[in-house]
Amino acid sequence: MAEKASKSILVIHGPNLNLLGFREPHHYGTLSLNNINESLKEIAQKADVKIETYQSNSESDIIEKLHSLTANGVDFIIINPAAFTHTSVAIRDAISAIKVPFVEVHLSNVYSREPFRHHSYFSDIAVGVISGLGADGYLFALDFAIRSMRNRQQTH
Ligand code: DQA
Repeated sequence: MAEKASKSILVIHGPNLNLLGFREPHHYGTLSLNNINESLKEIAQKADVKIETYQSNSESDIIEKLHSLTANGVDFIIINPAAFTHTSVAIRDAISAIKVPFVEVHLSNVYSREPFRHHSYFSDIAVGVISGLGADGYLFALDFAIRSMRNRQQTH
């Protein structure tokens, strides 16, 4: 099958990440979500990759967003499910259903925090997990996504 000319990535930010910069900076840093999204867009543009960033505080909206990808496919997802990481079988099932590879990102090191943050409903079905590297974690995930999409393109 012919490959699409330009690859596309969706970045999903879960609940309370709209408060980045203001929210518990000792855990989540001082950059705003907008700062992070702008850096991601700049890198994607240089790599000629389409990127959409999406934030929602609502579990059902995130599920609907994932369902919408069955019609408007993306090639890779970067997701920080935030608190839904530890609670949402429903978002896990949605991301599993659409069969798009994804990297799970957390700004903080969830393993150095409360025990309830040590379990993720996503990690075992993710391509990989980045936790504790702050906002750079998103940039590393994007770099990985770009490389892996290129590798897939070469091998198909
Ligand atoms: C988080 C970690 C979660 O435990 C927490 O609920 C968040 C953010 C992180 O990026 O470190 O909201 O996903």
